[in-house]
Amino acid sequence: MKNDKVFIFDTTLRDGEQAPGATMSPEEKLEIALSLERLGVDIIEAGFPISSRGDFESVKNVARQIKNSCVCALARCVPKDIDAAIEAIKPARHKRIHVFLATSKIHLQHKLKKTEDEIVDLAVKSVQYARKHMDNIEFSPEDASRTEKKFLYRILEAVIKAGATTVNIPDTVGYITPQEYGAVITGIRNNVPNINKAIISTHCHDDLGLAVANSLSGVVNGARQVECTINGIGERAGNASMEEIVLGIRTRLDFYNVSTNINTKEFYRVSRMVSKATGFVVPPNKAIVGSNAFRHESGIHQDGVLKEPRTYEIMSPSDVGVSLSEGLVLGKHSGRHAFKERLKSLGIELPDEALDKAFVQFKDLADKKKETYDEDLIALVEDQGHLASMAYALVDLISTSGTNIEPQVVITLDFKGKKEMKKSTGDGPVDACYKAIDALTKLKPKLLDYAIKAVTQGKDALGDVTVKVSIDDEVLIGRGASTDIIEASAKAYINAINKFVAQKNLRK
Ligand code: KIV
Ligand code: ZN
Repeated sequence: MKNDKVFIFDTTLRDGEQAPGATMSPEEKLEIALSLERLGVDIIEAGFPISSRGDFESVKNVARQIKNSCVCALARCVPKDIDAAIEAIKPARHKRIHVFLATSKIHLQHKLKKTEDEIVDLAVKSVQYARKHMDNIEFSPEDASRTEKKFLYRILEAVIKAGATTVNIPDTVGYITPQEYGAVITGIRNNVPNINKAIISTHCHDDLGLAVANSLSGVVNGARQVECTINGIGERAGNASMEEIVLGIRTRLDFYNVSTNINTKEFYRVSRMVSKATGFVVPPNKAIVGSNAFRHESGIHQDGVLKEPRTYEIMSPSDVGVSLSEGLVLGKHSGRHAFKERLKSLGIELPDEALDKAFVQFKDLADKKKETYDEDLIALVEDQGHLASMAYALVDLISTSGTNIEPQVVITLDFKGKKEMKKSTGDGPVDACYKAIDALTKLKPKLLDYAIKAVTQGKDALGDVTVKVSIDDEVLIGRGASTDIIEASAKAYINAINKFVAQKNLRK
């Protein structure tokens, strides 16, 4: 195939959010959408508006702010779904409706209880209905990879005739192999007479670890849109990972001979942002954005890389915005300007007030920590809580514990300018701390999960704590970082509470 463009369709905010426990707040979604736009994503699937009031508002919010990317909303083949999608994306400059309907025998018989004729009729009517409101319509035959070919060709021809401009081929259950998926795309190109009027898209799930391989096989066979998510998050085992697909295409241009609009230097930053919002920690060995993805441990490899990076590196870490912390980046004598420039080189630009706050925290950190790495700076900026509005802020924390004394914590929180202090004991310092916060906030979060990891190497590394809590049946993720792990634990817990408060305010 000639070198043409592959459209990148991101579904982090829709299929990505369907990952169990990955709920994101409206502010986080907007922040991620703006970053996706900066990354150069062509289409942002912002949500499924009919699924909840919150999702509807969140899609609308994204539609209002995004200027260059196309904003897409998902709908079943049901008029009220399509109406909600149309309404939610109304403010967008470029918009698309994505309608889907299952087409495999197993879904028709057991889930939908409809005949093939009824399914075609419903799909056509829905596309025609949506098409009355906009020109850009995508249709997905759900479970396409397990759909009989003859029926797949028939429904695709019908929806294209009805006005669909993109036909997406979901491997909904992550069942297919790369060879088979490639053959499905080729089969569609050869057997759907009007296929040149639509773009063929891939949408692969990772149940057998083949989502990226299947998507790339789709591209090789003529698909020109890829649906994917940041860090590969999504329903069950996830979706195809955007960073792996884009870097695959870019690194092996000689093989794929296609290009994308993506500014790959933004990947590391967006990956961290999604990880923070969802609470899903990126595994160290994850391709492209894992913390070990560009680190060489063996002496032979290190020697080779020092002599010539290409001996063991097929991509440059800087291509994806990774800085390797090989040297110190800043120290306690560094000034605000150097700090600002360093953040800028990491793709982080803060408004003046937030920069001042971050700079004070950096000085604090540099006093405590011998070596300050880029990862520390990113954690510190993220920790400022600019993603979630700050109802409660940690003012002070004193913690005492030991082998033979009962752990005790004295904590001061600021709530809308009012400072309150509480002393508490507990089974451990973290437990004592959480009890004090519960008493001050008068909320009773249930701690579902707690994880801590070091941001960088060394005994003085920042501790990065992730908590999952439930408050009033809502599951929230909170993160916090500090050289003091009790403080990091408190910040993570407060971060989750702040998200709850923000969501509650939004619903008022
Ligand atoms: O996996 C799937 O089939 C989907 C559709 C809604 C496109 O996510
Ligand atoms: Zn999916």
